[in-house]
Amino acid sequence: MKAIVLCAGKGTRLRPLTYTTAKHLIPVANKPVILYTIEKIKSAGITEIGIIVSPENKEDFEKTLGDGREFGVHLTYILQPEPKGLAHAVSMAKDFLGDEEFLMYLGDNLILDDIRPFVKEFEEKKELSALIMLSPVSDPSRFGIAVMENNRIVKTIEKPKDPPSNLAIIGLYLFRKDIFEGIANIKPSWRGEYEITDAIDWLIQHRGTVEGHIIYGWWKDTGKPEDLIEANHKILDEVIEEFKIEGVIEATSSVHGRVSIGEGTEVVNSVIRGPVIIGKNCTISNAYIGPYTSIGNGVLIENCEIENSIVMDEVRISNFSARIDSSLIGKKVEITEMDGKPKGVQIIAGDLSKVIVAK
Ligand code: G1P
Repeated sequence: MKAIVLCAGKGTRLRPLTYTTAKHLIPVANKPVILYTIEKIKSAGITEIGIIVSPENKEDFEKTLGDGREFGVHLTYILQPEPKGLAHAVSMAKDFLGDEEFLMYLGDNLILDDIRPFVKEFEEKKELSALIMLSPVSDPSRFGIAVMENNRIVKTIEKPKDPPSNLAIIGLYLFRKDIFEGIANIKPSWRGEYEITDAIDWLIQHRGTVEGHIIYGWWKDTGKPEDLIEANHKILDEVIEEFKIEGVIEATSSVHGRVSIGEGTEVVNSVIRGPVIIGKNCTISNAYIGPYTSIGNGVLIENCEIENSIVMDEVRISNFSARIDSSLIGKKVEITEMDGKPKGVQIIAGDLSKVIVAK
């Protein structure tokens, strides 16, 4: 079986970060979101993976992930030249997939459940055209929705105003080659996209062989900053098993709980309360790093406090009196406070940046 991961989305809700980094490459617990997906796919025994990218983010993916060898998989990059929807993205991968059954994964979705039983079920039920992963949600009109009768799905609808069920399609699908017939028979939706949900509905109406696989564990579509912060929390809590201290902790500092500190990092006169992960070559001085914080490489944090946040590479935060909380700080950002007059806040921020200061 092969897999495709759909990564051509623009990530508009994560701007300005997505001006320079594809949303699937933003780090959560110091690892690009997509690597959690690749690991899940590999855990199900699938190593031939097609990554569907856009003209804008193709290079970023190739540079970050290469041919996948480093992660024990083989990656092929497939271009979706225009954002015409998920079904259109799948049709771009037709040559790569051939006649094989395949797993389709939305690249920005994080799932903690084991996906092996899902894949095994599809391999055993050869009569199915598709098996779709579903999860009950409280806000079904934000998702593609499935209506079930026993195990069979009898209807799928994309973002219904009046949802007939609370079972959301969460972004993991298993298909056989007849999905391409479904894709060939649909028209663009109200949002101008070829919806995979409509292609699945075509399969239901014409073949009647689509089933749902319901999960009850945590999953997240990491489209917004607060989703990434929540995902960071969850992954530090439940996914990372090994925390290692490779840097230097000076005697005046204290480190509690599960904490990783990378090579070349120095912690001086500071308090760190895990779970926390700190990359390589950072300086943490006279600071408090609270739970659920991930700090990238080459970061300086001095005379300040931070918790429940993601800090990317080469950030500098110094002499800042308010505690930084629930923040997502992009590469090379500088945050500081000065003593001089007039007493004001100076902000040099890129388009669509967000600055929230305490009163
Ligand atoms: C897409 C799918 C939708 C699915 C959702 C899961 O929506 O179209 O069916 O429920 O992903 O995250 P989009 O993220 O494009 O709004």
